[in-house]
Amino acid sequence: MTRATSIEHVHGRRVFDSRGRPTVEAEVRLQGGAVGRAIAPAGASKGSAEAVDRRDGGSVMGGHDVRGAVAAVGERIAPALRGLNGRDQVAVDEALIALDGTANRSGLGANAMIAVSMAVAWAAAEAAGQPLWRYLLGDRQGPVTLPLPEIQIFGGGAHAARRVDIQDFMIVCPGAETVAQALDWTAEVYRAAGELMAESGRLAGVADEGGWWPVFASNEEALETLVQAIERAGRRPGDEVAISLDVAASEFGRDGSYRLARDGRELGRDAMIELLEGWLARYPIVSIEDPLAEDDAEGFLRFTRRFGHAVQIIGDDFLVTDAARVRAAAQTGIANAVLIKPNQRGTLMETLECWKAAKAYGFGGIVSARSGETEDVTICHLAVGWQVPQLKVGSFSRSERMAKWNELLRLEEALGDRARFAGWAPYAASPPSPSASGRSA
Ligand code: PGA
Ligand code: ZN
Repeated sequence: MTRATSIEHVHGRRVFDSRGRPTVEAEVRLQGGAVGRAIAPAGASKGSAEAVDRRDGGSVMGGHDVRGAVAAVGERIAPALRGLNGRDQVAVDEALIALDGTANRSGLGANAMIAVSMAVAWAAAEAAGQPLWRYLLGDRQGPVTLPLPEIQIFGGGAHAARRVDIQDFMIVCPGAETVAQALDWTAEVYRAAGELMAESGRLAGVADEGGWWPVFASNEEALETLVQAIERAGRRPGDEVAISLDVAASEFGRDGSYRLARDGRELGRDAMIELLEGWLARYPIVSIEDPLAEDDAEGFLRFTRRFGHAVQIIGDDFLVTDAARVRAAAQTGIANAVLIKPNQRGTLMETLECWKAAKAYGFGGIVSARSGETEDVTICHLAVGWQVPQLKVGSFSRSERMAKWNELLRLEEALGDRARFAGWAPYAASPPSPSASGRSA
């Protein structure tokens, strides 16, 4: 190690996220003077097996304050990391994990840990004189894939006071040829959707991630309106612009039973699968995240057996960015893609392990923001630097979202001729079991 990349100081700072809640910013300084900075995001619809944020509790800031986590950065993490090589992400992250000493990262707090872990990566890249994406790519030559954006048009679920049950009504632009074109098309669809809401007297602001507030009489009405918005924007629903859903079913499903408050129905596991089957038949849906609840492995398995050959099935609450869970799911034939949220684990090393496990099993990957975000753009650099083919950031408004999309435009420009837009790589992951391709669940 050259002394220049040795960690000299780690500073914790209390800043605020897009919900106006305190969160942790970490600043890492290396001996040679390079500085890296990163901010922890925060989820609202969390998987129960996620690494947990450290929050102060009590009555101040509704219990969401992070003074304890910020103090942990300066008082515990800084002395433990001092002298470690900032280029050695594995050593740094292992030190964080050892210092935390818990399985769910409640010792230091996943918010403290991920902010520091990401800030170390930025500092190391800075010391190498490179942007983070390039530093993470290493000495790789040739084309570089830019991720397909997955962008919310209507919010819902826990991000919209449960106005509708489904959490994210999103689009992807498989027909676009560049990130820039995909974002242009998305901007038009987002605008058209806003016009449709306004014309029908339903314009009521935006949800947590910037998607239009879902003033709909049913979940399905949101799907109908989304198709209308795509058409009004002058795009063909399906091959040009397709629909992607995050059902986030853990929010309303338990023990194989699903309570759809908006549709006024309580569905069993098979009825829930049939509901989604109807939507798949009627709407151009290419991807569904958490179609069943995190405690419903049986339902997830049945759903994957029936639709995994044709639809991307993403585990978020179900897989929680955990390499071991991804391996187990792949071996059982559950899901075919994983949502990758660094703060669900707490370190970059473990987040990358999860993506490597996913790739080894032919799973798709989607790097994802949280509903509580900031101007931090680390996830854009991870998606490009690790060559993950999709990126989910929420909607197409509010600067904590636009900061990411704008950064992606910068990365596409910086790559120039080397840039290849991921487009839609169909994740027809065939589960290992030979019976898995049949429709009999
Ligand atoms: P969260 O939701 O950040 O509120 O957990 C995002 C998602 O479910 O994908
Ligand atoms: Zn989700």
